[in-house]
Amino acid sequence: MNAPPSAHLFAAPPAARARVLLVDDRIENLVALEATIRRDDLEVLRARSGDEALELLLRHDFALAMLDVQMPGMNGFELAELMRGAERSKHIPIVFVTAGGRELNAAFKGYETGAVDFLHKPLDAHAVRSKVNVFIELYRQRLALREQLEALRRSQAEQEALLAELRETQEQLKLAVRIRDDFMAMASHELKSPLTALRLQGQLRARHLERGNLAAFTPDKLQRMLASDAELVDGLARLIDDMLDITRIRSGRLSIEPAATDLGALLRRVVERFAEPLRGVGGCTLLAPEGIVGHWDAMRLEQVATNLLTNALRYGAGQPVAIALERQGECAVLSVRDHGIGIRAEDSARIFEPFERATGDGGTGGLGLGLFIVRQIVEAHGGRICVQSQPGAGTTFRVELPLAGPRRAGERHP
Ligand SMILES: Nc1ncnc2c1ncn2[C@@H]1O[C@H](COP(=O)(O)OP(=O)(O)OP(=O)(O)O)[C@@H](O)[C@H]1O
Ligand SMILES: [Mg+2]
Repeated sequence: MNAPPSAHLFAAPPAARARVLLVDDRIENLVALEATIRRDDLEVLRARSGDEALELLLRHDFALAMLDVQMPGMNGFELAELMRGAERSKHIPIVFVTAGGRELNAAFKGYETGAVDFLHKPLDAHAVRSKVNVFIELYRQRLALREQLEALRRSQAEQEALLAELRETQEQLKLAVRIRDDFMAMASHELKSPLTALRLQGQLRARHLERGNLAAFTPDKLQRMLASDAELVDGLARLIDDMLDITRIRSGRLSIEPAATDLGALLRRVVERFAEPLRGVGGCTLLAPEGIVGHWDAMRLEQVATNLLTNALRYGAGQPVAIALERQGECAVLSVRDHGIGIRAEDSARIFEPFERATGDGGTGGLGLGLFIVRQIVEAHGGRICVQSQPGAGTTFRVELPLAGPRRAGERHP
């Protein structure tokens, strides 16, 4: 390899400058040619031999190469053939500088790939400059074209991405509309049944009154009526509350107002409220030590316990229920266990989604909102819920709640 090209050849050019490679074994020719073609928007790199030129061609892109034909070692034509053989330099236009006659023009074979031209010595400065100008202009046009193509390709890619995004939004919208329609259908059905029952009861009582049938209103009958009315009204109120919660969750407005809460005491209250239905299934064991106090929203945790207990009663096949609370490190762990119909493994994730019901009987259950709301409340407290179950053998829901309560912005639970 020849002596390395002098350092100034490697100075990084501003992006807009086009590079020209001059190859000549005689320094005075290089200097003269460079002086002839020098322009602010050109960067000229010089090489004293074919080898030196090849090295530069490996490192840089060139708009044009001007090769002296007569050089010791590798001559201009041989260098040009090597250039045409390499992918990187194949398309660089070449201007041969020759002292020979025009018959030499046929000596070079590689005309097919890139532009080739000749300059004959003695060089005419004007002819040299105009030839260089033509090639540089062509080079710039090619660059501009490539940039436009690139921009076109980019905008096409952007359009495609936008289109994909649009399609996805459309799918989401369709899904949202379907969910809303399902919700409306189910909600109106669920609201209508207790209302219909209430209306029928009212009509029946009116008829008894019209006919003066006061035997229908003895104290114990009235008591049962009141209890049944209260149950229907409670059911309606619960449904409406659930629907409101769903709306709040969907719009990210489920509010949690934490305060010091004794979870054991809270569970005892809930179990007390369910005393009667629990008696019907042979009771409920409640293992809850005193003093498990956390920073929680009591109303919301009552909702969690109520939903889990309702499910244990509803899907518990009339068997007793067991509730346990314990402290594990910085968390309280609540489990609600029944011995009922159980949940298949493939349903155990789905049941935490809104309107998802695993039983499919339509008769015993509600809207399929309970566990979804429960999970949202538990997660809003920084906790988690999971289910373990065996079809036919029973189900345990396990809720883990950090005693510290919900995260504040920027805080993390261990
Ligand atoms: N303890 C359980 N044992 C067996 N299956 C259960 C139990 N708890 C929930 N499931 C199943 O998970 C489904 C979803 O429960 P979820 O509480 O969300 O809804 P739901 O009880 O049907 O109605 P809602 O709670 O809205 O009145 C239920 O329909 C039922 O199929
Ligand atoms: Mg439920």
